[in-house]
Amino acid sequence: DIIKEISGLNVLENELKEKLQIKDVIVVAGDSDQFPWVKKELGRACVKRIKSSLTGNNIVAVNGGTTLADIAEMMTPDPKNKEILFVPGRGGLGEQVENQANTICAKMAERASGNYRLLHVPDVVSNETYQTMINEPSIREVLELIKSSSIVIHGIGDAITMAERRKTAPDDVKKIIDGNAVAEAFGYYFNEDGRVVHKVQTIGLQLEDLANVEHVIAVAGGASKAMAIQAYLKQAHDTLLITDEGAAKELIRG
Ligand code: F6P
Repeated sequence: DIIKEISGLNVLENELKEKLQIKDVIVVAGDSDQFPWVKKELGRACVKRIKSSLTGNNIVAVNGGTTLADIAEMMTPDPKNKEILFVPGRGGLGEQVENQANTICAKMAERASGNYRLLHVPDVVSNETYQTMINEPSIREVLELIKSSSIVIHGIGDAITMAERRKTAPDDVKKIIDGNAVAEAFGYYFNEDGRVVHKVQTIGLQLEDLANVEHVIAVAGGASKAMAIQAYLKQAHDTLLITDEGAAKELIRG
């Protein structure tokens, strides 16, 4: 649109697409590290994209984090009243309640006048508990909905920031540091080359499930996330990235 042309954001978008070798990028003005309202702009762009991607089967899986919480704030009902079912992509993953996938999912559904289902599972589970829980009928049912989602919205974080925010056990922190992890997304920690160096065992969407999802949207901004964004996208070329000018400029410089 005209605003993008005047501000040069479309030039940034094209440069970034080329640099990251990804299909599609949206860049919004500002740097969310500096101004919190920029996350709302990321949210606005994301909501617009969700609406334009709605078809017959609209199951939208959403992850946690502060960016996703802001996307929920910006959600509004679909003018064409298409039906949407929101599901959480994963369990809690050690986030504060307002930043957990379940909370965000319920809020998005409320604002979209849609429906939602929740995943009532603990954050991190032992192998044994994991096997028992995924066979529990009520959980299984939600897991099947999650796996058949047509749209997945997720955040990307800096690996160390996320390990700290989740109060990760010392052994796992060591694994994350020794593996030179720089990025984190839905429980997976990635090194600079986009290789998984650590994974948190949680119930919900797994990395390999994304291949079957029509629209995968990663929303992450702020110059401080540039390295994380670049690393994560090395293994996710089909993902649509929604980011801000702060991250985009840093990515192009880097
Ligand atoms: O913990 C959920 C999560 O989506 C992570 O996978 C991601 O790294 C992080 O939140 C992003 O959080 P924020 O948007 O607050 O930077």
